[in-house]
Amino acid sequence: MKKIAVVGAGTMGNGIAHVFAQKGFAVNLIDSNASALEKAINTIDKNLDRQVNKGTINAEDKVIALQQITTFTSIEIGVSDVDLVIEAATENSEIKKSIFKQIDSFAKPECILATNTSSISITQLAAVTARPSKVIGMHFMNPVPVMKLVEIINGKETSETTSNTIVELTNQLGKIPCVVQDAPGFIANRILMPMINEAIHAFSEGISDAATIDQIMKLGMAHPMGPLQLADYIGLDVCKNILDIMHNGFKNDKYAPCPLLIKMVEAGKLGVKTGEGFYKY
Ligand code: 3HC
Repeated sequence: MKKIAVVGAGTMGNGIAHVFAQKGFAVNLIDSNASALEKAINTIDKNLDRQVNKGTINAEDKVIALQQITTFTSIEIGVSDVDLVIEAATENSEIKKSIFKQIDSFAKPECILATNTSSISITQLAAVTARPSKVIGMHFMNPVPVMKLVEIINGKETSETTSNTIVELTNQLGKIPCVVQDAPGFIANRILMPMINEAIHAFSEGISDAATIDQIMKLGMAHPMGPLQLADYIGLDVCKNILDIMHNGFKNDKYAPCPLLIKMVEAGKLGVKTGEGFYKY
């Protein structure tokens, strides 16, 4: 693989584009919103600067990486000549299905279609395409340039060749692939989100304040961030969406989002991105 496309220029999309460009891949970064593309390039520029300042890359590597990225507002043009498309759009299954249909109709027949979904069924997304054996989950973690894990999710129809190709590609990126089967929340969020939800329950019951809950998990469990700080960082709307998907998918109330989480999302307190969640930013 030499050339890839990323659909969606938000936090995850720009991080994925950053990592591929830094490893020498040509990247078409696609978003229907031109200002989102501009913002993404600025973010990648700043994050590459962090690496230059740390001495992990030099200034020339930064220039080369940025030159690898071309932006597009059209899916049709942006995916036409690439070997892999990674969809990193809004975490909504109807939006993702519609994007997958478009990508499928404009990408080369041999192109692999991956999604960075955090919990939506790969099998369902694959079913809207004419190439289900070439559809796979590639779940990166935030911040993408830093986190080593890529959770690789095989849908029901994903071929062994597709899965092996993506495992090899993940290694080439300097990341560590962990392969799992398709189920709501896969493994990462199936385990992470109930922990975050439980922390919100404990907070809403007044068992302790947010800082103390986070401190307990940081000091006691060696987590880099406590669960409430991490929820703010991920976005409370994203946490609620993932819990909803697991709640509906497993039909098990243990995944039901805590009423306080629902209220905070309704109030627009989504965490870092809106300036307030469990903490103020
Ligand atoms: N791009 C490039 N480098 C970055 C970066 C970015 N966006 N963000 C941080 N860094 C680098 C910093 O430059 C620094 O580099 P160094 O180790 O060489 O000094 C390093 O990462 C650590 O950053 P900071 O010093 O700024 O801050 P911290 O030490 O507090 O680390 C953190 C920040 C890496 C975010 C750390 O707190 C952490 O690991 N938090 C947990 C993150 C996590 O759990 N992510 C998974 C979320 S779940 C998910 O994504 C799945 C989804 O489906 C919900």
